[in-house]
Amino acid sequence: MNICVIGTGYVGLVSGVCFSDIGNKVTCVDIDENKISNLKKGIIPIYEPGLEELVLKNIKENRLSFTTQLDKALDEADVVLIAVGTPPKENGEADLRFVEAVATSIGKNLNGYKVIVTKSTVPVGTGKWIKGIIEKEAGHSNFDVASNPEFLREGSAIYDTMNMERAVIGVESDKAKEVLTELHKPFNTNIVVADIETAEMIKYAANAFLATKISFINEIANICELVGADVTKVAEGMGYDNRIGKAFLAAGIGYGGSCFPKDTNALINIAANVGYNLRIVKDVENVNAMQRFRVYDKVKEAFNGELEGKKLAVLGLAFKPNTDDMRAAPSIDVIPKLLEDGADVIAYDPVAMANAKREIANLNTVNSYEEAVQGADAVIVLTDWKEFKDLDLADLKKKLKQPVLIDGRNMFDLNQMADLGYYYASIGRRT
Ligand code: UGA
Repeated sequence: MNICVIGTGYVGLVSGVCFSDIGNKVTCVDIDENKISNLKKGIIPIYEPGLEELVLKNIKENRLSFTTQLDKALDEADVVLIAVGTPPKENGEADLRFVEAVATSIGKNLNGYKVIVTKSTVPVGTGKWIKGIIEKEAGHSNFDVASNPEFLREGSAIYDTMNMERAVIGVESDKAKEVLTELHKPFNTNIVVADIETAEMIKYAANAFLATKISFINEIANICELVGADVTKVAEGMGYDNRIGKAFLAAGIGYGGSCFPKDTNALINIAANVGYNLRIVKDVENVNAMQRFRVYDKVKEAFNGELEGKKLAVLGLAFKPNTDDMRAAPSIDVIPKLLEDGADVIAYDPVAMANAKREIANLNTVNSYEEAVQGADAVIVLTDWKEFKDLDLADLKKKLKQPVLIDGRNMFDLNQMADLGYYYASIGRRT
């Protein structure tokens, strides 16, 4: 099939590359000329394992190309994927400015039947709204709109797409259903066909549920600390029950990123707009907002409330490992608190330091974990990079001024930390 992907952000780029890799001819369009000229050379604007190789491979095999010319790309396309950003507005609603602009351009350039699909996460009802815009601009309705939400995770985006557990296809015609079912056949996955509003809702419900699991286990962790239980064992014991499942029960500093915070907020707004008070998801957000400060509290506790002049090595800045994404990262809230208290914070992250410097004022970074921890009064782990998991803890202790480790990600074994003589505080486990 011939596919035109509009927007070369995270979702657009990964979907475009994966659809080309399974044999489609894909043209990715963006208005950013610099980005497109870089992509043509295989220079990728984001950090995502495996993406660069796959882009280069498919460019070479003539299945993938990049352009700023939407009209030309549209001309040949059977399927158009809208994958532009939907950033949150001040009030938490999704800002559909970019989607609107793209729908208008599509309408102006429509030259024959196409299936026009939203990949971006958009409020329920957006599919129909897009249809209206295109119809008005094109002056006919020889097209279908559809919803095909994305479920990939940053850091494992290629794997998640190539091994998708389901494809959700929201359609209002048999023709669009046929085209999109055909497109997803090579993935050999479960296909859920629904109406457009339902497909749009599935995306929000899925993300809100995953966020709920995280806040739920974090609350259980907080109780565990008070009653002397261990949340990792509690999660293991719960997770063997298939109805619960093991995934997303890792207690810690709480969730960040560009998706859960934005989508929970947007869902609360979608509900409020139709007069519904979405209590559970509101509390999920509240618990998450508080959780990151529990890590800060644990640092203070380790030094009896006195952080003035303490050298603190922060390991990890990104909201999660394998990404340089700093959006809603816990470090953005935790580090300024430590600095306010007069601590000397030295941070290290394998890839997110440049982005972090834009987000956190007066952030002091170093280029290796060794430099960060040398002579530190404490180590604070904020992101669960494998590189930190694999640390030689005995060696680390020798480098520290005081053997204090505050772990926001429950990375290390309690017995080992005790044997090595660390003051070790983590989340929902015995100290
Ligand atoms: C999330 C969803 O997992 C994807 O399915 C979805 O497609 C994506 O949002 C999106 O809407 O685009 P992502 O934000 O990339 O993906 O990252 P996750 O791996 O889901 O992690 C989100 C946050 O939850 C991270 O801060 C992570 O540290 C935290 N987390 C995750 C926990 O604290 N505990 C867990 O058990 C799991």
